[in-house]
Amino acid sequence: MFRTQGSELAMASMLALTIEAILDFAGQRSGHFRLIACEVASHDAYGTPRHLFTAFFAIIRDTLRDLLGDEWSVEIAQAWDALLVEIEAFAGIAA
Ligand code: HEM
Repeated sequence: MFRTQGSELAMASMLALTIEAILDFAGQRSGHFRLIACEVASHDAYGTPRHLFTAFFAIIRDTLRDLLGDEWSVEIAQAWDALLVEIEAFAGIAA
């Protein structure tokens, strides 16, 4: 899906912006969280199916789980599950 030259920068930027947006969505909702719905809509132009957003967020969660090791808990897992459902509903990803 990505262009062959320069796509690493786009990918790195996407990850950084996504983490900021998720943290803002889970916290203060001061503004960054709005990027998720914007990008879901704008990525239609890249041909990015909306379900890949769900997959992307799940990979971020799974990576954190792997990094946290023993510190990962049932409560954290449940909080992530609830958060991802809420983000999907808010950003129209399930649509
Ligand atoms: C909240 C999640 C995401 C955010 C905030 C985000 C953000 C961005 C941004 C800022 C760009 C560069 C746009 C531009 O400068 O024109 C971009 C490009 C792109 N994104 Fe995302 N993105 C997200 C999720 C995804 C997902 C899940 C996929 C597919 C697996 C994806 C695929 C792409 C592609 C293919 C491009 C074009 C890159 C290129 O030109 O090579 N994005 N994204």
